[in-house]
Amino acid sequence: MYSEKVMDHFSNPRNVGEIPDADGVGTVGNPKCGDIMKMYLKIENDVITDVKFKTFGCGAAVATSSMATELVKGKTIEEAMKITNKAVAEALDGLPPVKMHCSNLAEEAIKAAITDYRRKKGLTEESSSCDVCCRRCEDVHHHLDEEE
Ligand code: FES
Repeated sequence: MYSEKVMDHFSNPRNVGEIPDADGVGTVGNPKCGDIMKMYLKIENDVITDVKFKTFGCGAAVATSSMATELVKGKTIEEAMKITNKAVAEALDGLPPVKMHCSNLAEEAIKAAITDYRRKKGLTEESSSCDVCCRRCEDVHHHLDEEE
């Protein structure tokens, strides 16, 4: 059912943890299952120099987040914003169709963390924070943001 790469990233996830002095933090929830992901980014001169994640989610969410952190490390924030859940799934040699929704968490958490960074830097309006995030879970973003 799962590719070897998925199993590898699930059993041995990369970049798990937190960054206490992160420049951007994104917390998102998956509206389909209620799973939660938190992504921490360290950013220097618009380049992602470090990334860590924590998830309360399924194995596919762990594997896609692990791969996503590998993909964004060393990228500029513009490049990282363009990484899609499909690209992450392809890098893992695919996911079963019923688990594709799990890969949304990684994409959305990265976007939310970059948006948080831009907001802290005054590069974006507070109210437009979700314009760059996935519309599907906008309500969840807001809900989680309020809780923090
Ligand atoms: Fe919730 Fe996979 S079942 S993220």
